Amino acid sequence: NPLVTSSVVDDSPLPSNLTQDDLKKLAAYKAVEYVKSGMVVGLGTGSTAKHAVARISELLRQGKLRDIIGIPTSTTTHEQAVSLGIPLSDLDSHPVVDLSIDGADEVDPALNLVKGRGGSLLREKMVEGASKKFVVIVDESKLVKHLGGSGLAVPVEVVPFCCDFTRGKLEELFREAGCKAKLRVKSGGETAAVTDNGNFVVDLYLERDMGDLEAASEAILRLPGVVEHGMFLGIATTLIVAGKSGVTVKDR
Ligand code: 5RP
Repeated sequence: NPLVTSSVVDDSPLPSNLTQDDLKKLAAYKAVEYVKSGMVVGLGTGSTAKHAVARISELLRQGKLRDIIGIPTSTTTHEQAVSLGIPLSDLDSHPVVDLSIDGADEVDPALNLVKGRGGSLLREKMVEGASKKFVVIVDESKLVKHLGGSGLAVPVEVVPFCCDFTRGKLEELFREAGCKAKLRVKSGGETAAVTDNGNFVVDLYLERDMGDLEAASEAILRLPGVVEHGMFLGIATTLIVAGKSGVTVKDR
């Protein structure tokens, strides 16, 4: 892809019995090599990012990193970082973040992402959008040709007020792409899942890709009731992919 300016492959052979979680850990550990002492670091959310948070804390304990300030992207990550003793702050006190590390649900060849299937998309977009460098860490199952094309959802955070009205407007917006918009419910329950910001999430399931991503993004954000969506367009600067054949690093 023309946007990807360099690509480095570490193709040292990996053992064949690696689990998906091992691959996530490999990508996370590689990303933490970008963290230097004195940095303000955005701490992502999810089963991949949690390995990066744990690794940062390990290096702090070993004295190999010093003076790190973490900016968590969710209450879950906040709790993990506090339990591991990582000093924390927020965007009000540190509006410029040196580096963020986070997972993603989908990554396209131009390093555009879908995030938020874990529900933390708003804080993630605020922190990662304020970062000089944003390193995305995934196992190879997250790579797609088109965002929204994996059969999984594109999440949209909406205000609770008349959320079914907003859900209907979102479905209408992408009718031509065969969109089904569903309010996310708590696992095993029928009540709406609530984000860290007290909002709800509408998941957009698409039969066909939504075409021009920038246009789709703007159309979603124009709808009253929408707070943010999970497409991260042009925000990621580096992608680290761990697969059975090795770890690949791509820079934009
Ligand atoms: C949470 C996110 C996560 O980064 C994304 O869902 C990937 O999670 P995992 O690393 O567990 O696959 O966007 O809102």
